[in-house]
Amino acid sequence: MTQLIDVPAGLKGVAAAETSIGDVRGAEGFYHYRQYDAAELARGRTFEEAWHLVHAGELPDVAQLAEFAKRTAARRALTPRVARALPAIAELAASDRPLQNLRAAYELVALDQGMKPWLDVSAEDLADQAIVTTAVFPTLVAALYRHSTGKSPVGPREDLGHAANYLYMLDGREPDPARARALETYLISTIDHGFNNSTFTGRVVASSGADLGSAVIAALGALSGPLHGGAPSRVLDMLDEIGTPGRADAWIRGALARGEVIMGFGHPVYRATDPRDILLRQVAEELGSPRLDLAKAVTTSARAAFAELKPGVPLPANVELYAALVLEAAGLPRELFTPTFAVSRVVGWTAHIVEQAGHNKIIRPSARYTGPEPRSGLW
Ligand SMILES: CC(C)(COP(=O)(O)OP(=O)(O)OC[C@H]1O[C@@H](n2cnc3c(N)ncnc32)[C@H](O)[C@@H]1OP(=O)(O)O)[C@@H](O)C(=O)NCCC(=O)NCCS
Repeated sequence: MTQLIDVPAGLKGVAAAETSIGDVRGAEGFYHYRQYDAAELARGRTFEEAWHLVHAGELPDVAQLAEFAKRTAARRALTPRVARALPAIAELAASDRPLQNLRAAYELVALDQGMKPWLDVSAEDLADQAIVTTAVFPTLVAALYRHSTGKSPVGPREDLGHAANYLYMLDGREPDPARARALETYLISTIDHGFNNSTFTGRVVASSGADLGSAVIAALGALSGPLHGGAPSRVLDMLDEIGTPGRADAWIRGALARGEVIMGFGHPVYRATDPRDILLRQVAEELGSPRLDLAKAVTTSARAAFAELKPGVPLPANVELYAALVLEAAGLPRELFTPTFAVSRVVGWTAHIVEQAGHNKIIRPSARYTGPEPRSGLW
């Protein structure tokens, strides 16, 4: 009989694999990509630089950056046969389910690219699939959104950065630089974050030798959950419901009394501070989000209510509270918040899939059976 090792529920605190992509140090309120402070990268670098860093392991020099930006921008466009299928997908899932739209549409990209199990693919081809996947995500999200809102898609522009081009494809006009930079800061800050639910999911699927597309689609499924990537739009719904700073206290206490979770608070790893909360609060302030006073009142009320009603449980504001304000102020409709999270996290997912393929061990844990004893004799 196999000896089972019990681990905490949800695998909390369990190191399930090794990675050199990045790390989250919960007690310190710090996270990094390849040894570089991620919040500093978000402040001072472009999305392409961070993308190169996460995938190649080093920040690009000027020539490498120019080459990488050109190479990735050239992969943004959809092939005609994928583009032709998008109206049908947009019609099926409608505008209120854009992440499901993205998942269905990306499946077509994976098919179109002829993605095979990575066991049968060279390291160069797998790295190229990672590039195409990341390059095409904003194009898919923007085109599907425009179809589902009765507009014609706007094709990508190779002369714009990843974030500015995403806004351009959504609106059909070149974005204001401050908005584009705010979105870029958000995108860099959410590229990777340890063994979060969707990254782990992607690695589990990759560990069976499956194709990169299947692992990315599985990660997208995990991200769709309200406790993971689905939180930011719900933050705005919550702020709408609360309405004014004076109502925050009563609203939070009422929700906690009903046993509800407060969106934008709590984290499996951060205990005191989520550095993304600090970073994105600053960005929301710089952009002049009209919801700042309300968000601050909610934070103060939540902190007081948690201390009283959930003593001893550290529930810091997480990335989602101010992410919602930044994305809104950058001009994104709330139904695109989770797909926009996917636009950045796909850099992390694909890096992890490539890393998993580089030294693979199939992930196959056990479960402790808690049902009745097997029946004996004839039944
Ligand atoms: C992120 C999240 C799933 C982490 O969950 P977790 O790892 O189980 O968190 P913890 O172990 O620290 O939770 C401890 C306790 O606090 C509660 N709790 C955690 N987050 C809470 C929140 N936002 N509001 C109210 N209670 C919360 C848990 O239900 C748990 O209560 P219990 O011991 O009575 O069961 C959780 O905090 C949550 O659902 N947050 C809201 C959604 C969100 O903002 N997600 C984005 C994350 S970046």
